[in-house]
Amino acid sequence: MIKVTDVQYARIGVPDLDEAEGFLTDLGLQTSARTDTSLYMRGSDDDHHCYVAELAEPGYIGMGLEASSEEDLEKISHADGASPVEAIDEPGGGSRVRFRDPAGFAVDVVYGIEKLDLLPVKNIVSQNSGSDRRRLGVRAKFEQGPGQIKRLGHVVLFVQNFAECVDFYSSLFGLISSDEMFDDDGETIVSNFLRCDLGNDFTDHHTLYLKQMGETRCHHLGLEVEDIDAVQRANQHMSSKEHKHNWGVGRHIVGSNIFDQWIAPWGLMHEYFADMDMLDANAPTGRTPVSESLATHWGPPHPYL
Ligand SMILES: [Fe+2]
Repeated sequence: MIKVTDVQYARIGVPDLDEAEGFLTDLGLQTSARTDTSLYMRGSDDDHHCYVAELAEPGYIGMGLEASSEEDLEKISHADGASPVEAIDEPGGGSRVRFRDPAGFAVDVVYGIEKLDLLPVKNIVSQNSGSDRRRLGVRAKFEQGPGQIKRLGHVVLFVQNFAECVDFYSSLFGLISSDEMFDDDGETIVSNFLRCDLGNDFTDHHTLYLKQMGETRCHHLGLEVEDIDAVQRANQHMSSKEHKHNWGVGRHIVGSNIFDQWIAPWGLMHEYFADMDMLDANAPTGRTPVSESLATHWGPPHPYL
């Protein structure tokens, strides 16, 4: 087993690169590279890309998980089902070991993909709360324009072999459970919010959410933005471009993140998120009834209810 440090990118099949570039730019990503068959999009963080859109059957193809060292990449290449370590023949370079998870999705464990200069994050405005005044003597100012995504933060997968998938991601890549959700019987675990094990360092409450369902698909990609203002302002921009909205703006209960969900022209859901709970590896695993998975602290009711 190794301990991956984050999800680095998602690879998505799209029917048309121009259409994909238009939607993803409206969403708040920027083009890092484009080939005849693929688009490599980045956020303001330093990863060369956090989103690969390639001409293929529309839908989720797989994810790249970041190894912490070249030694770990070598080590995981000896696991069952692993490819040998290979050079990545794509913009950004680096090395990878390829897997296929028990649901059939691709998993690349990657190391050494090029890092780019950070992009300046617009509209960082500290918030004054009723009991904690932090913006003193400074007027809040906001620059107009599209949302600005920092990074890919999590992937949500519906699978038909949930337990096998949890075991795969935990036993090979060291993901640990933040919150388990149980079925109506009060016992059977049917979904799991998994995070990376960074020891005493804090990380997102979830990097991967797996849920037992009667279908196999990606439910959404979680893309981090700066704060609640960024979520709301991105909502305004996406509305002005007449993109298809799904659910939000709200604040989830599990993970506590503020969210807003938008559907791409090729059907995949993309979620802005901000202000997620941060946990270290010592945090105990929570348990919640799965019936509460669509509950919110605040926000509109789920559109499918
Ligand atoms: Fe999410």
